[in-house]
Amino acid sequence: MYKLINTFGIDAKCAKLLEFTSVDELKAHYAEIAEARRNGKLLIIGRGSNLLPVGDYDGLVVRSRIMGRTVVAHDMVCIGSGETVDDIIAWTLSQNLYGMENLSIIPGEVGASAVQNIGAYGVEAKDFIVSLHALDLDNGDIVEITNEQCEYGYRQSRFKHDWKNRFVITDVTYRLSDTFIPRLDYGNIRKVLEEKDISCEDGKLTAQILRDTIIDIRNAKLPDYEVEGNAGSFFMNPIVDKGKFDELIAKYPNMPYYPAGEKVKLPAGWLIDQCGWKGKTLGRAGVHDKQALVLVNKGGATGEEVVALCHQVQKDVLERFGVEIHPEVNIV
Ligand code: EPU
Repeated sequence: MYKLINTFGIDAKCAKLLEFTSVDELKAHYAEIAEARRNGKLLIIGRGSNLLPVGDYDGLVVRSRIMGRTVVAHDMVCIGSGETVDDIIAWTLSQNLYGMENLSIIPGEVGASAVQNIGAYGVEAKDFIVSLHALDLDNGDIVEITNEQCEYGYRQSRFKHDWKNRFVITDVTYRLSDTFIPRLDYGNIRKVLEEKDISCEDGKLTAQILRDTIIDIRNAKLPDYEVEGNAGSFFMNPIVDKGKFDELIAKYPNMPYYPAGEKVKLPAGWLIDQCGWKGKTLGRAGVHDKQALVLVNKGGATGEEVVALCHQVQKDVLERFGVEIHPEVNIV
């Protein structure tokens, strides 16, 4: 048995673990991975920063350790799928390439971030992904997949639906910008910059300052998984239709919301907070005291304990607001 790596700090194991450092090494294991897939015993992971293991995994866990960063055009970089997103953001700034600052210190890896379409502070991975390479487990070929083919949406891609378990991503190509164009419209970014006496119009704002500011904002709200296990936002923000929104906003005029096309996205953290869950615990699992969207391991929690808390929170939000919230985290 091998350790099943996860940032939730859950002690879980897997029957088999395959970590590969090159495309050739991955291809050499094609038959084994394809067989595990056929038997429904395949789990493809990154750093395990969006994973909640419930018990041990009786199958094959596959994780890319492919590293490598190449500038492939004046504004394009190709990155190994095993690299950590945050290391890549720091590196792109050192190359005078900009755009991903708002995604700073997200703990995930490049391959997983293309599956999950990670996002923060008004920016999503899909905004930069041009294409990626992957091993196609249908036939053993290395294929190129374009951004459009991935059908990205809010925390969504085909890799989570009809392509689930079909591809093992080996590298991702991003298009960045050689000019720094700060994106400051989400939440309190401008306010925090002003507190640092940096106005966005006086030329003082650099990409590094923006990155540091995003890191400060996240650190103030989100727990460090090395101190208190967690997987970032546990739930996705629910998207409701206009009728439901009108009903809720009439009752809760202070409710924050974001337009999402014809529909409206509601912050699940706010809904959970309103139910009084912030800072509360159930067994050894808890709701983070600074951001109710984050469930935490208070020490020695099992996956079942976190799931029990998840169900209780879902039930309370449904009873109070009539809104279903669903985990963003992959429960295995
Ligand atoms: N809120 C509360 N109470 C809480 C938490 C939030 O009232 O306990 C309110 C906030 O005051 C704010 C609103 O809810 O008005 C939204 O909160 P926040 O800006 O913290 O963002 P979020 O919607 O809770 C999403 C992402 C985060 C990302 C932030 C910033 C999802 C599931 N989560 O959180 O992503 O960092 O926006 O862009 O979309 C992650 O995916 O792991 C993650 C951390």
